[in-house]
Amino acid sequence: MTLINLQPLLLKNGHVIDPATGLDSVTDILVKGGRISLIAPDLTPEEGEEVINVGGKYVVPGLIDCHVHLRDFEECQRETIASGTRAAVTGGFTTVICEPNTKPPLDSPERLEALREKVEREALCRVYAKASMTRGREGEVLTDFKALKGHPLVVALSEDGNPIVEEQLMREACRRAAKHQLPLSLHCEDSGFSLARKPKGLGFQPREPFHNEPGFIARDLRLAQEIGGGSTAGVKVHVSHVSLAESIQIIEEAKKDGKGRITCEVTPHHLFLDETSRGPHGLPFTVNPPLRKKEDCTALQRAIKDGTIDAIASDHAPHREEDKRAGAPGLIGLETTLGVVLTGLIHPGLISLKEAVRLMSTNPARIFGLGGGSLAVGGPADITVIDMEREWIVEGKRFQSLARNCPFEGWRLKGQAVLTMVGGRVVMREGVVKGYGL
Ligand code: DOR
Ligand code: ZN
Repeated sequence: MTLINLQPLLLKNGHVIDPATGLDSVTDILVKGGRISLIAPDLTPEEGEEVINVGGKYVVPGLIDCHVHLRDFEECQRETIASGTRAAVTGGFTTVICEPNTKPPLDSPERLEALREKVEREALCRVYAKASMTRGREGEVLTDFKALKGHPLVVALSEDGNPIVEEQLMREACRRAAKHQLPLSLHCEDSGFSLARKPKGLGFQPREPFHNEPGFIARDLRLAQEIGGGSTAGVKVHVSHVSLAESIQIIEEAKKDGKGRITCEVTPHHLFLDETSRGPHGLPFTVNPPLRKKEDCTALQRAIKDGTIDAIASDHAPHREEDKRAGAPGLIGLETTLGVVLTGLIHPGLISLKEAVRLMSTNPARIFGLGGGSLAVGGPADITVIDMEREWIVEGKRFQSLARNCPFEGWRLKGQAVLTMVGGRVVMREGVVKGYGL
């Protein structure tokens, strides 16, 4: 990243909100050399500084989406690093963490190195990765956690798409993850794959297909607690896309003695859509975990309000139209997540913008040990400017993403990112994306 020649920039009169530093006031931010150099009201612009008036807007730490599928390296190009990160900055994200279920999967330092080279060439925002927990993502042999930990992109391990089915293998994964201090990003969804393999030791009595999420969560949290022995040096586990009220109860209970090592996330689609929701042509949305009952949505929204949920993530999962027609599970969300959160949670008064920033920046940074997630002086100038009042209609044809499988098509939303800055560089302004490569 070349920051030396960046023009200094003064963001004037924005309402700055940062849960990490406690800032919540109208003030100016001076950005120099890619970093936040000063935060104070009524700063007088000096020669050479570009002034951007953000009066009436909210200025928050760059948003972080901790669950994204970027899909590069595939022949059919459902998404690329370039298109996915263009979508990210359009949606107000300055950092994304991508999942390892690419083809081939991110299961070795060599694969991650290939990703890093592409990221350096094409990415518009910061990209980190979760490496696969098992070789080939086949659920049988653990990857080399130590070697993966050494790669600069890797912030966690994930078996996206599947839980680790066999209890003994999961126990060993927890043990090694604790040893190498790599968080485990758990995917407890009940995919067809998980139980069809007739596991030798599941660790709980399975229910009907697609209803085993609570079973896997309870088992994984028990194993994680056993390994941790109650100490903070144990394994950190992050439960991805929680979808059922019962799962929330289990997590809430486990958190009581989890010593901050248990966290979880929810997606906008599990918060606001249910099994009766329909897309174009009256078809139900296919996604895994599936959309649930209205009561589950209500329980997830309540868990957002009471703080049981730590993060909101899109699980941006691009698919081509023909693959969706054939039943491919997954929905995109990088360009709609912020608008849906502002419209569905903040404007109705369920949570404040400060809480939303905690869920979409402060906490993801903390959970995955990233540098950002705050507007600290001296820190990287990753900043999102939000217009809370702007009304807009979701139109897939305008997306930067290559995919169109968005469940919020046609929704009228209130609130949008109007400027995204990564490392002191404005990469999106008023929906216009600028340039490639950091
Ligand atoms: O619906 C889903 N799509 N769930 C997953 O876990 C994977 C994702 C994908 O990669 O398409
Ligand atoms: Zn996913």
